[in-house]
Amino acid sequence: MGDGISDYTKNMVDLRRHMWMAGVEVELRRLIWQIAVVGKYISAKIHEANRKLAGFKNIYGEDQLSLDRSSDEILKNQLQFSGFVREYASEEQEKIISIGTGSEKYIVTADPLDGSSLVETNLAIGTIIGIHKESVLDTGKKTMVAALYMTYGPLITMVYSAGCGAHEFVLNREGEYVLAQENILLKAKGSIFSPGGLRREWLPDHLKFIEALEKDGYKLRYSGGFVPDINQVLIKKGGLFTYPALQKSPQGKLRLLFELQPMAFIMEQAGGRATDGRTDILSLKVESLDQCSPVYIGSAAEVEMAKQYLK
Ligand code: F6P
Repeated sequence: MGDGISDYTKNMVDLRRHMWMAGVEVELRRLIWQIAVVGKYISAKIHEANRKLAGFKNIYGEDQLSLDRSSDEILKNQLQFSGFVREYASEEQEKIISIGTGSEKYIVTADPLDGSSLVETNLAIGTIIGIHKESVLDTGKKTMVAALYMTYGPLITMVYSAGCGAHEFVLNREGEYVLAQENILLKAKGSIFSPGGLRREWLPDHLKFIEALEKDGYKLRYSGGFVPDINQVLIKKGGLFTYPALQKSPQGKLRLLFELQPMAFIMEQAGGRATDGRTDILSLKVESLDQCSPVYIGSAAEVEMAKQYLK
């Protein structure tokens, strides 16, 4: 006979237990845990915004910050007192901010709330985090030691990698992130594709590549939210997301530091790949916070095929 709650928790692998069992170093796992907790606060903010859409008023009558800004504030405040972070680089800030005393081990990059314009449509949105040990700008070195993202959809999920596989957790009703899938592994080839940018602005080689996928029977899956679109490729174990170079914006739309590199880190840990068409996303040198890059990310066959078409 089980004994209620303790029996229930005994068999459950939650995020902390998983990171401990996976041998993630103690400071890194505490940091990842704290960021996962921030995901709960951000999701509460999203819920509040949705209540406003449904006609509820802010009970304090305050001016509300935009959801992106308030998510950034929540994250920055939490990291400031974490004891593990010396610098914070956010898509919502113009510069890298020094937090802590300067002697802390980590630098965190964040897209605190990606796809926030989708809130009113009730589609999923997300938070993307990169964790580095060394300076994130101008080094040309691979400085990332861990990455994670949270999706706020029908479920709140988080996927993290600290360099030993990619693992998915789901937030349960008791407020615990419970292991859903360990060591997610993409198939060599998938059957869905998620192409960003207006078709009429695509460059000829990219258009030919997409036409080849269409001819091969790939199904179109594009929500307009980078996090859920990447999550779909990962959880369905294959396929491709791309936001290419466009005629008017040769560097595409998505940010290298905040969006692409953390997702490339996770995708590679799941056996996938990520390229700008020539160079691996993780090998690209980040020279400025707002630097963008075209991207082809997903399972190996499609990413290699893209490289062939873009040669
Ligand atoms: O970077 C913001 C973002 O909303 C991503 O989440 C998404 O992948 C992309 O822009 C969508 O762009 P578009 O509206 O051009 O399809």
